[in-house]
Amino acid sequence: MSFSTLVQDIAFRDSRSDERSSQISLPHSVARSYASTSATSVSIAGDISSQLHGGYSHPLTRAWQAERQLTKAMLIYPLFITDNPDEETLIPSLPNQHRRGLNRIVPFLRPLVAKGLRSVILFGVPLEPTAKDALGTAADDPAGPVMSAIALLRRNFPQLFIVADVCLCEYTSHGHCGILREDGSLNNAMSVERISDVAMAYAQAGAHCVAPSDMNDGRVRAIKLKLIEAGIAHRVNLMSYSAKFSGCLYGPFRDAAGSCPSFGDRKCYQLPPGGRGLARRAIQRDIGEGADIIMVKPASSYLDIISDAKEIGKDMPVAAYQVSGEFAMIHAGAKAGVFDLKTMAFESTEGILRAGAGIVVSYFTPEFLDWLST
Ligand code: PBG
Ligand code: ZN
Repeated sequence: MSFSTLVQDIAFRDSRSDERSSQISLPHSVARSYASTSATSVSIAGDISSQLHGGYSHPLTRAWQAERQLTKAMLIYPLFITDNPDEETLIPSLPNQHRRGLNRIVPFLRPLVAKGLRSVILFGVPLEPTAKDALGTAADDPAGPVMSAIALLRRNFPQLFIVADVCLCEYTSHGHCGILREDGSLNNAMSVERISDVAMAYAQAGAHCVAPSDMNDGRVRAIKLKLIEAGIAHRVNLMSYSAKFSGCLYGPFRDAAGSCPSFGDRKCYQLPPGGRGLARRAIQRDIGEGADIIMVKPASSYLDIISDAKEIGKDMPVAAYQVSGEFAMIHAGAKAGVFDLKTMAFESTEGILRAGAGIVVSYFTPEFLDWLST
């Protein structure tokens, strides 16, 4: 098509577009002959912004489409540490994940640290039959698995950032995340007192970050105040599980940690899955109480909440926890042939980053350390 014909063609179509109704009444073949004269006329006469393919035809230009690209520094790897020093037990419902005793952690972590592991989050798993009581006394036992692991990891891996999950459910005889009243409900004031003491013990033992996952009201403020009083607030990061939803995605974790409640559920302290406004208020509240990082958990079913967290906490880092049930689900899907494991691990994690998170707690961390190296 010559340039002059092209100009005529555009002029013709411009005039036609003023009389939409008559154009529609044209016979089909006639209408089509004017609508798509040639590829060139489509791009010039049509909407230029409709031509997107050139923007992402190369692997690098595809990577540039993301606001945040996954890096090793964004990942926190969960570790389950038992009080039996030589133990290394596979957790059946949590693919490839183990409960390990103190003697097993350093040899396990050494190759991961060499590959670029930057951070771990510690969960204590007391297996001794006498370890649990109504107050969760074992949580801050100086000889217990978490307190010992903090010191051990600080000694062996000086560059590793150590997060200590703070909760009582692994240590209470009833398996709830705080101290209970006679009627079985949470005694918030006593729980906050206890949780903040446990957080202080982990911080004093050398944790770089304490992460309360209990969901008692006011625990962030209580922990922050104690850190300030002790003169260590400047060196301890406070990461709050601000928007932690109740639901059915923590099952494999509770198998791993032995933290299933012996009666009832956690619906009166973890958030209801539909509670977007409540989550926003919880995030707002925790920022006001002195959290340094806010976390959303689980991740993939709560991407709108991650996005809300980034909007409300636009000046702070947002973390998301891809929890045990999400991880197990991805493994199950891959095993059933629904998708490729690695592709789905990336797709789900990139979705979490796109929603607004810059930190991801992920059971895929060891795999990502390999995948991100190649
Ligand atoms: C303890 C805690 C839980 C998780 C993190 N900290 C379990 C729960 O609240 O029941 C869940 C993590 C996961 O499922 O991977 N309060
Ligand atoms: Zn708990």
